[in-house]
Amino acid sequence: MKADKIEIFDTTLRDGEQVPGCKLNVEQKLVIASKLDELGVDVIEAGFPISSPGDFQSVYQISKRVRNAKVCALTRANKKDIETAAQALKYAKNPRIHTGIGTSDYHIKYKFNATHDQIIQRAVEAVQYAKSFVDDVAFYAEDAGRTDNVYLAKVCEAAIQAGATVLNIPDTTGYCLPEEYGAKIKYIKEHVKGIDEVMISCHCHNDLGLATANSLAGVLNGARQIECTINGIGERAGNTALEEVVMIFRQHKKLNFITAINSKMLTELSLLTADMMGMMVQPNKAIVGANAFAHSSGIHQDGVIKNRVTYEIINPEEVGLIESSIILTARSGRSALAYKFKNMGFNVTKTELDNLYIEFLKIADLKKEVNEEDLNFILNNYNQGVSCERR
Ligand code: KIV
Ligand code: ZN
Repeated sequence: MKADKIEIFDTTLRDGEQVPGCKLNVEQKLVIASKLDELGVDVIEAGFPISSPGDFQSVYQISKRVRNAKVCALTRANKKDIETAAQALKYAKNPRIHTGIGTSDYHIKYKFNATHDQIIQRAVEAVQYAKSFVDDVAFYAEDAGRTDNVYLAKVCEAAIQAGATVLNIPDTTGYCLPEEYGAKIKYIKEHVKGIDEVMISCHCHNDLGLATANSLAGVLNGARQIECTINGIGERAGNTALEEVVMIFRQHKKLNFITAINSKMLTELSLLTADMMGMMVQPNKAIVGANAFAHSSGIHQDGVIKNRVTYEIINPEEVGLIESSIILTARSGRSALAYKFKNMGFNVTKTELDNLYIEFLKIADLKKEVNEEDLNFILNNYNQGVSCERR
């Protein structure tokens, strides 16, 4: 059976960039947008044009530059936002306006002090107005994660009738459990008139560490677009990580989903984004963390040296790394030590290895990581009959 394409909507430059400390200038945004286009994302959410002249310029310049991906601009449900977004998208080959409003009782009561019907009215007006500028209009029901499903379906149906082409169902606060979020998408799929003519999009936040699981639950229940960011950056605990969903679909072919992403560029994009935003990636981050393909315990190292499939489910080359790494620590064994010596051009005998290993442990117990310089020191001392006590 032919695999279903999942559209990748990248919001690194909007939800990701709105994080404190992640601010980029126009030039930097252009560099990342060009790389995202090359990576193969389907949509680039380039910014929120009404928010600042700089963000307007970013969306304007990205629209001129990007040739493959659709370029999207965020708005609230008001005319000024929508007009400004339309101007910023003027030169986009495939422009999309992303407009919407809060639909949970928390938002309706505390943010808008409005009625449920008034919110639907505002949603409809926003979509219709956006539609007067562009064909492709995505509607987001902010805080859909905490919105009653019956009301959410009503809002979605009204947005479709007003002309929305995409329905974004954000778990804005990262509250949903995967079963709940999946059931929400299923409910919409089954109860909204016209739903088969539009695309359902997942936009999941990571407050409980469930963003990727929730996005997966979303597509398993009928969504066909995932909103995500490089390195999972985004408001508070972040968004669904692009690299995670892409690699889940690649590793689990049985799901029968594909994306257009060139996974070999994932590491490059991760480093570029982290560097430009000054937002370090946690070392144990899935797929792109510094330790994602590093092996340090003796048992694992021995297995990986014999055959990497013993402890690796992804070939590091698939994400753009040259190879996985063997890190020497006090938990490493003889096989890793021999492997490192061999890579340095020294083939040691079993007896030599036993003796060198004793010297290695003396240093390893003093340091977090034993490097090549340390190994040379161990070898030199060994050849001169000196112990490594004083490294
Ligand atoms: O988290 C959210 O609800 C959003 C919307 C503006 C799409 O970022
Ligand atoms: Zn968001």
